[in-house]
Amino acid sequence: MYVSLEQAVAKLQRGEVVAIPTETVYGLAGDARHAPALKQIYALKERPASNPLIVHIGQMAQVNDWVSEFPPLAKKLAEAFWPGPFTLVLPAKAEVSSVVRAGEPTVALRMPAHPVTQQVLKASGLALAAPSANKYTQLSPTTAAHVEQSLGQEVAVLDGGPCDVGIESTIVFVAGEQWQLLRLGMVTLAQIEAVAGCSASHCETVATPKVPGQHVLHYSPATPIQLFDHRADLIAFSKQQSNSAVLLFGEDAPVDVPSFVLPNVAQAAAEKLYETLHKMDALQVKTLLIENPPNEADWLAIQDRLQRASHKLN
Ligand code: TXA
Ligand code: MG
Repeated sequence: MYVSLEQAVAKLQRGEVVAIPTETVYGLAGDARHAPALKQIYALKERPASNPLIVHIGQMAQVNDWVSEFPPLAKKLAEAFWPGPFTLVLPAKAEVSSVVRAGEPTVALRMPAHPVTQQVLKASGLALAAPSANKYTQLSPTTAAHVEQSLGQEVAVLDGGPCDVGIESTIVFVAGEQWQLLRLGMVTLAQIEAVAGCSASHCETVATPKVPGQHVLHYSPATPIQLFDHRADLIAFSKQQSNSAVLLFGEDAPVDVPSFVLPNVAQAAAEKLYETLHKMDALQVKTLLIENPPNEADWLAIQDRLQRASHKLN
């Protein structure tokens, strides 16, 4: 069910859940201080209660409502990457709902850049808990239609067009002067290092939070995926597997099965990655044959998602 911005805001203020666009993926949003809304998010996604939610805020001043410490390093990173596809995990204030943080001592915060998300946050005056708006372990939605396909027609969806980052935010845990990467995204390790002035820490004195959502099998289409390091192997395999579809990066190649090509620039490929996987999944072939993208730093987040999505076969 599609709703207008005004309807979305009214629903959120009443404690209902609404799928909203962000620049990374669509999120299933609810008032982060309202336990029934949070519980409905977990129920609709069929997500285990042990997997915490990201709290989305519209302004820097809101950080202190959620965290017991906002170390200078975290502030520096927030100022550099917010609003944007970047999430900070920080020690939570005692009063932060244990539902939103799934009993963890930390809370995840993100300030999205999408103008529609910003309007929803501003008009509602709320902080919004929002995981990706898909069933647990499925492929994340990058269009309003993907949300309906995964969660059904009853879910209220605010259509903000296709997401232009296209994969989930980079997540960083900050403890004092140290930081650690918890999930790769399109804010890269090199960008974080440049702002932090130091590399990610492996210091054992920092209690690293577990990232309950980082199951190996995640971000998956229903169709099994097989990854290929060499294009020639993929093409040869496609000749034996006529009930397959092919995904390549850069240039197209002549194959006898349906084929898709993503650009050889990482940002542009990320934008279309899930949309393309959704399309390939809809073909209902036996296997998706996917070329590994270039082995370069820019592509690490895309490689990570493809590895997770392909785990069923590997
Ligand atoms: O781009 C995104 O981050 C999207 C949009 C909607 O903001 N959200 C998203 O949420 O991807 P979700 O719930 O699908 O993934 C959030 C990840 C999960 O793996 C979760 O376990 C982890 O963040 N997470 C959340 N709070 C955490 C915490 N306090 N400590 C460690 N990991 C946390
Ligand atoms: Mg998710």
